[in-house]
Amino acid sequence: MLTHRRATAGDLDLLAEMNLRLIRDEGHRNAMSVAELKQRMAQWLSGEYVALIFEEDGFQERSAVVAYALYAEREDEIYLRQLFVARERRRQGIGRWAVAILRSEVWPQTKRLTVEVLVRNAAAVAFWRAVGYADYCLTLEILPGTKPC
Ligand SMILES: CC(C)(COP(=O)(O)OP(=O)(O)OC[C@H]1O[C@@H](n2cnc3c(N)ncnc32)[C@H](O)[C@@H]1OP(=O)(O)O)[C@@H](O)C(=O)NCCC(=O)NCCS
Repeated sequence: MLTHRRATAGDLDLLAEMNLRLIRDEGHRNAMSVAELKQRMAQWLSGEYVALIFEEDGFQERSAVVAYALYAEREDEIYLRQLFVARERRRQGIGRWAVAILRSEVWPQTKRLTVEVLVRNAAAVAFWRAVGYADYCLTLEILPGTKPC
C-alpha cells in the first residue's frame, strides 16, 4: 500500500540524497553537493515550501520511500518545484498516483497548478503532459561567453 506524509527536519538527509538523484536524472546543470542540497532544502522547508514523502508498505512493517514532492502554495498558484520517483520504481504509476493524491487530498482545487521542466528531460515532459499539465511557457537562454550571432 502507498501512503504519504509531510516531511520533517528528520527527513533532510533523505531529501538531499533524492534531490541529488533528481538533479542527475533530469540532466540539470546544478552542481551542488549533498550537504549544500540539505542546507537549501532546510531553508525551503522553513520558508514557503512543503515536502511530501510517499512510502510503500513492505515486509515486517517496514516502509520504503518511493517518491517525494516539493511544492509551494502561493496566492494564486501551486508551484510544484520537484517530483522524484525512485529509479527502480518508475513507469509503475507512482508519479501519476502522487499527483492524483496532491490534487485530490492536499492542494486546494481553486488554484492554478504550475511546474517547470527542462526541455531535454523528455521523460518528465511526457509525464507532466500525461498527468494533465499543458504547455504554457518556454524559457530561452544565451549563456555567458556565447558569441553573438
Ligand atoms: C518524471 C517521473 C516523476 C515520472 O514518474 P513515474 O512514476 O515513472 O511516472 P508514471 O509511471 O506515473 O507515468 C505516468 C505516465 O507518464 C508518462 N511517462 C512517464 N515516464 C515516461 C517516460 N520515461 N517516457 C515516456 N512517457 C513517460 C506515460 O504516459 C506514463 O503512463 P504509462 O506508463 O501508462 O505509459 C520520474 O521519471 C522521475 O522521477 N524522473 C526523474 C526526476 C524528474 O525528472 N522529475 C521531474 C522534473 S522536476
